[in-house]
Amino acid sequence: MPTVLITGASRGLGREFARQFAAQGWRVIATCRNPAAADIEGEVHAMDVTDAQSVQSLADKLAGDPIDLLLNNAGVYGPRDSDFGRIDYDAWDEVLRINALAPIRVAEAFADHVLGSELKQMVFISSMMGSIAQTSVGDGFIYRSSKTCLNMAVNILSNQLRPRGATCVLFHPGWVRTDMGGPSAAIDPTVSVGGMMNVIKRLKPEDSGRFINYDGFDFPW
Ligand SMILES: NC(=O)c1ccc[n+]([C@@H]2O[C@H](COP(=O)([O-])OP(=O)(O)OC[C@H]3O[C@@H](n4cnc5c(N)ncnc54)[C@H](OP(=O)(O)O)[C@@H]3O)[C@@H](O)[C@H]2O)c1
Repeated sequence: MPTVLITGASRGLGREFARQFAAQGWRVIATCRNPAAADIEGEVHAMDVTDAQSVQSLADKLAGDPIDLLLNNAGVYGPRDSDFGRIDYDAWDEVLRINALAPIRVAEAFADHVLGSELKQMVFISSMMGSIAQTSVGDGFIYRSSKTCLNMAVNILSNQLRPRGATCVLFHPGWVRTDMGGPSAAIDPTVSVGGMMNVIKRLKPEDSGRFINYDGFDFPW
């Protein structure tokens, strides 16, 4: 039975990933900031992805447990009105720490667990809003740049870990009806996560470094 560790599993896409992987018989290690407040069944651990000690302490607790798939999902949008001329630099700093630095911190902490597993996969939930090629608007300064930073970091990571047999990919999950996506978003979490899981199931080492839409098509950088 393969094992998946999911960050930000308290709600939204993370919780739906936990539900669908459990339904398929995987061991699901759900992580979130506040397990007591989260409505998730099964194995749940506390982990704040921006807190180095919190991340390392869970990695130590799970030492020796292979993790086939490390699913870096946790993320925030940040303030929606922080654009050029009124940039909130503290908020930008925080969003970068959560969306770009933390997934790499988690990957570093759990690298041995993943490299010691059978599948050796790392998935990072990015966004089309991080695509430079797709951005022709003048808003979303903070969120967009955080996901662009994540994309580059994962691209580098995929090159570093390829010789060690790991497969690292980024996803755009679609515009999804979660707290972040809002009620007018285009698709349900079940559709987004179901689509990404179909792609994950077929991932091969040569896919490492791809930026993939939830339906399997490559996304422009
Ligand atoms: N929804 C969309 O349309 C959409 C589109 C493109 C990309 N995405 C990406 O998809 C991912 C999931 O988003 P979502 O739509 O499911 O958003 P969501 O419903 O707002 O959920 C965000 C999750 O991230 C967790 N989180 C935030 N900061 C954290 C931290 N420091 N440590 C641990 N967990 C933290 C939250 O935990 P708490 O409950 O503790 O706050 C929550 O579980 C994000 O990376 C997002 O950028 C979403």
